[in-house]
Parts: sequence; structure tokens; C-alpha cells
Amino acid sequence: MEVIICDTQEAVADRVANYIKYLINKKENATLGLATGSTPIKLYKKLIELYNNNEVTFKKTTTFNLDEYYNIDGDNIQSYRYFMNKYLFNKIDIDKSKAHFPICLEGENPNLIGDLYEKKIINAGGIDLQILGLGSNGHIGFNEPSSSFMSKTRIKTLTQKTIDDNSRLFNKNEYQPNMAMTMGISTILNAKYIILIATGENKSDAVNRLISGAISSKNPASILQNHKNVIVILDEDASSKVN
Ligand code: F6R
Repeated sequence: MEVIICDTQEAVADRVANYIKYLINKKENATLGLATGSTPIKLYKKLIELYNNNEVTFKKTTTFNLDEYYNIDGDNIQSYRYFMNKYLFNKIDIDKSKAHFPICLEGENPNLIGDLYEKKIINAGGIDLQILGLGSNGHIGFNEPSSSFMSKTRIKTLTQKTIDDNSRLFNKNEYQPNMAMTMGISTILNAKYIILIATGENKSDAVNRLISGAISSKNPASILQNHKNVIVILDEDASSKVN
């Protein structure tokens, strides 16, 4: 595991965007695994800048998002598809039919949708580069503590900690889902390269446990210590408790 500490969140975004640019310029039909949440927003802004400067094109890129809330349609303002459209896809030249989400609506079979998502990833040639954020409880995707390291894409119930952390994104009386479809830990580990981004002091404990904690399903991100090609990119605040 390589750990890179940057001065600012902007520098983190710059660094990761340049890795993505390098990959896509080398392999134009690359497959990216993408994350939502607050952390990658600056990265997506930087990718849009690179695209506008003609430094990269996403025309042949395929993407798989890590997760999607259960029973939230892609047009819903709270959906992760909506998020990706707003912060990235609407502003670059990606073919949206190649941008995938594990969407599962009420009445649909989550097991089948999970299996199908796994097949789509395999058919796309696997994920070349997976971008991850980090939950303050150590989750990656929505693989909450106690998730199996063998897990594939499936439905998960979110912990109260994650629901509380994400409540900032919902209005007071708005419905906040407590379940999500998520790539499994083994799905994530199958990516050829992984970049985990963490910024801000509120991630510093989780970052310390990720880098030097025991590998345990109680701390899902810790399993990344075993992946051959992981880069953890932090700002100063997120790295403040690394020992
Ligand atoms: C989002 C995801 C989550 C987030 C994590 C951190 O697709 O998979 O694991 O990366 O919850 O979220 P933020 O960046 O909002 O702190």
C-alpha cells in the first residue's frame, strides 16, 4: 500500500485526476469504478477541467459505481446516478449507456441484480481503476463493519453511523433510505488498481485504522492492506493520526 499525503484537498484531487488521465490516455476503453459522497466532488471538478482543456476524453470509458440506495430510481435527486450526472457525467463526453449503477427497485430481486452487476463488470474486462472514499466507520462502498471479505454485489442494511453521517445530504423531513446495493469487498479487491481518497480531520481515525490497524472485517477498509496495487491519497488533516 502506497500512502501519499498532499497539502490540500485540491492537491489530492489534482493528483487523482492525473492518475485517471494517465490511465485513459493509455487505455481509451478503460473501466473505472467510481464513488459518490463529498470526497470525490473536487476530483470530478478537476476531471471536467481536464476534459474542457482537451487533455482527456471519456468517449470510450465504461464506469461502474460502487453503490446505489435501494428502491431509489436513477432520476430521484437523492440517487447516486443523479449525483454522478450532476457532478460529472453531464459535463463530459461519456456515453451514459456505459455508466452502470446497481439499481434495485422494490419488487426486483436484489440477488439477481447483484449477480448481473458482477457479470457486467466481468464482461467489461474487469475494473482497471477503482476510486474509493472511506466511511468514518471504515466502510468502503457500503460494506459496513462485519461485511465478508468474500462478498460480491448485494443488498446491505446501513449502520446507524452511516445513516447519521449521510443525513447531512437529506432535508429534515425527506425519506432517507437505510438499505443500499453495493459492490462487495471481493468485487472491489478484483480491481487492478485502487485509489482510496480521504480528506478532512473527521476521517483521521479511520485512516489510521486503514493503514496500521489489524485486518478485520470489523474494519472493512483494512483488507486493502493485502491488495497489490493500492494508493491511499490523503490531505494533511486526514493523515494527522497516522502513526
Ligand atoms: C459512496 C461510497 C461511500 C463513501 C463514504 C465516504 O459511493 O461508497 O463508501 O465513499 O461513505 O463518504 P464521504 O465522501 O461523503 O465522506
